[in-house]
Amino acid sequence: MSGGRDILVCQDLAIGHGDRVVMDRLSFALPAGRILAVIGPSGCGKSTLMRALGGLDEPIGGRTTLMGIDLATAAGADRQSILRRTGFLFQGSALFSSLTLRENIEMPMREFLRCPAKEIRQLAEYKLALVGLADAMDKLPSEISGGMAKRAGIARAMALDPEVIFLDEPSAGLDPVSSGRLDELILRLRAAFGTTVVLVSHEVPSILRTADFCVYLDPETGTMGAYGPPKDFLQAGQAPKVHAFFTQARFD
Ligand SMILES: Nc1ncnc2c1ncn2[C@@H]1O[C@H](COP(=O)(O)OP(=O)(O)O)[C@@H](O)[C@H]1O
Ligand SMILES: [Mg+2]
Repeated sequence: MSGGRDILVCQDLAIGHGDRVVMDRLSFALPAGRILAVIGPSGCGKSTLMRALGGLDEPIGGRTTLMGIDLATAAGADRQSILRRTGFLFQGSALFSSLTLRENIEMPMREFLRCPAKEIRQLAEYKLALVGLADAMDKLPSEISGGMAKRAGIARAMALDPEVIFLDEPSAGLDPVSSGRLDELILRLRAAFGTTVVLVSHEVPSILRTADFCVYLDPETGTMGAYGPPKDFLQAGQAPKVHAFFTQARFD
């Protein structure tokens, strides 16, 4: 939370699929240890942006650096380094249904950590305890609630002690109590580990509770409508669509 160093810097970032540009001219910087919410109407490119920012898909244009690594040219060791130092909760959370929660969390550990099975097991149990699932580690995803599945997904994203985690709609489909618990968990992980968080959310109360900054993607202009602290957008100002998002609208 010391601020200072920008862990993520986008200059004129363009994102999309194949030749199709979904958003361009995205320019913002996120200091390490902060929480960024990506917001905007359904289909505007939030998930596409998350994948690009996390180095999973190559940006179409512009210059973007994550942890000092240029995402347009990252290859080999740099790309491995990004994978090793980031964690993802994809939209829909997608735990492996035939594996227990503990086995789900062990997967990325087995891939990247050179440690004996016993240590990996202990690490996975520790991560599940962190998210309040100590009593559920031997359950299958089908045996737990939606809120628990999201927390297990966050434990998996945190498996390798990442510097940055990307959470795509972590609270989608949750009741307000579970959603509130998830917000607290995200804030607690950030406080404990200094993790930088990039998340997609539609829940205004949740954004106001957790995010230090938000970037609003405007599909009508094909670029960002605003970037700044969410509380700023509660005031009517130069960004009417963002203001509308914060004061009334739910887009999907
Ligand atoms: N894998 C893909 N291939 C081609 N087009 C895609 C793919 N994923 C998403 N899109 C398109 O890109 C646009 C942005 O999608 P997405 O990033 O999923 O939006 P959001 O997460 O904001 O709802 C949409 O028009 C969507 O149809
Ligand atoms: Mg999405």
